[in-house]
Amino acid sequence: MSVPSEFSPIHVLRQALIDCRQATLNQVQNLGDRLYYQQAHPDFSPIGWHLGHIGFTEELWLLRHCAGQAPHQPQTHRLYAADGLPKQQREQLPSLTDTCEALQQVRQRVLDYLPRAPLSQQARLWWFILQHESQHSETMAIVEALHRRKYHHKPLYVAHPTASSAPDFKSIKIPAGTFLQGNSDANAIDNEQPAFLQHLDRYQIDRYPVTCGQYRRFIEAGGYNNPDYWSAAGWQFIRQQNIQEPLYWPQQLSQLSQTEASHLDHHPVCGVSWYEANAYANFVGKRLPSEAEWEKAASWNPQQHCRQPYPWGTEPPQSHHCNHHRRLGGMTPVHAYPDHCSPWGVADMLGNVWEWTSTPFAGYSGFRSFPYTGYSQTYFDGHHYVLRGGSWTTRPWTLRNSFRNWYFPQVRELFAGFRLCERE
Ligand code: AVJ
Ligand code: FE
Repeated sequence: MSVPSEFSPIHVLRQALIDCRQATLNQVQNLGDRLYYQQAHPDFSPIGWHLGHIGFTEELWLLRHCAGQAPHQPQTHRLYAADGLPKQQREQLPSLTDTCEALQQVRQRVLDYLPRAPLSQQARLWWFILQHESQHSETMAIVEALHRRKYHHKPLYVAHPTASSAPDFKSIKIPAGTFLQGNSDANAIDNEQPAFLQHLDRYQIDRYPVTCGQYRRFIEAGGYNNPDYWSAAGWQFIRQQNIQEPLYWPQQLSQLSQTEASHLDHHPVCGVSWYEANAYANFVGKRLPSEAEWEKAASWNPQQHCRQPYPWGTEPPQSHHCNHHRRLGGMTPVHAYPDHCSPWGVADMLGNVWEWTSTPFAGYSGFRSFPYTGYSQTYFDGHHYVLRGGSWTTRPWTLRNSFRNWYFPQVRELFAGFRLCERE
């Protein structure tokens, strides 16, 4: 008996590519010229650059490397290569219309090639390309939020009907033992592989990410002006930049009524550097989890003694599981998805906000670069820290327990917060 066509690898991949691209086109559709062409921040390229770079990367790997086709628009390659131009020189761009057209021309050739492609050898690269677009869409969402923050102050905090009562804050005990960390599936990124057995001592991790209500006490207690809570590097950073609150701190908090303000109280903190996460942890006498502790709390099923790709099990993310894929336009309260906790009862692990961990980004034992050294390995430098869990804007194809993100400790522009562990 043959496999029904809608479940064949080719069909699944094709549909995912189409859905991902539709989301990308929707995302850029109503951008004005400023949002499309201009940098919102010196460390981030304009949205229009990301859009062109998505097509460039797809063409480079699937059409040139795999299908052996000649370059399509070679005059744009220097512009869109990640190692081409410095970020400040990426504002001279083809128009939105032209870029979308180029993107779709590449895509048409890719879909024409797909039925002929030797997928048993190439599956990993195809899944990589899908996740590459997904990740750049998140960066585009960040750039958009940075623009809007400057000019419109569009609120990123959205209400959620299931989160009416207060969250039941709790620290959850995870017993000592071995679990399977990482992911060796075909869609795994190089830095998730190979999966390996990891032993951890017992620890306790918070059910929820740190909320705005909790973090406000740190601000009100003068946490940003007290060097006791900060590392030397963290203190130097916030003093130099004159930082007094998270980047996406709800501006209106002080002007709102009690009910409205308490509604914001239950949203996760968003827009903090790794330094701020650690300072808050010191303030409350706790610590960040290691990435292994985070992953075990999300993925290990102690009854069945196996790893799960998602906290709730094996079903790919849909809108009722967690806040992701830009469906809601911002962050939700930390207790909005009570039925999709991990087997340990740890909540809100995927989606909503990325979570900083204490772990510097490094390769797992047996790491092998794919598809190029500059994707992960270049960042195994001891200066980047791992984030886990994805945000409200992360697409389903990069949302999973084993996915590792990484940034410098001073980056505050991500949709990132954190959760904490007890100090034993
Ligand atoms: C994993 C999100 C840090 O955007 O710099 C995209 C992903 N790498 N193209 C980044 C990436 C190359 C990467 N992050
Ligand atoms: Fe890229």
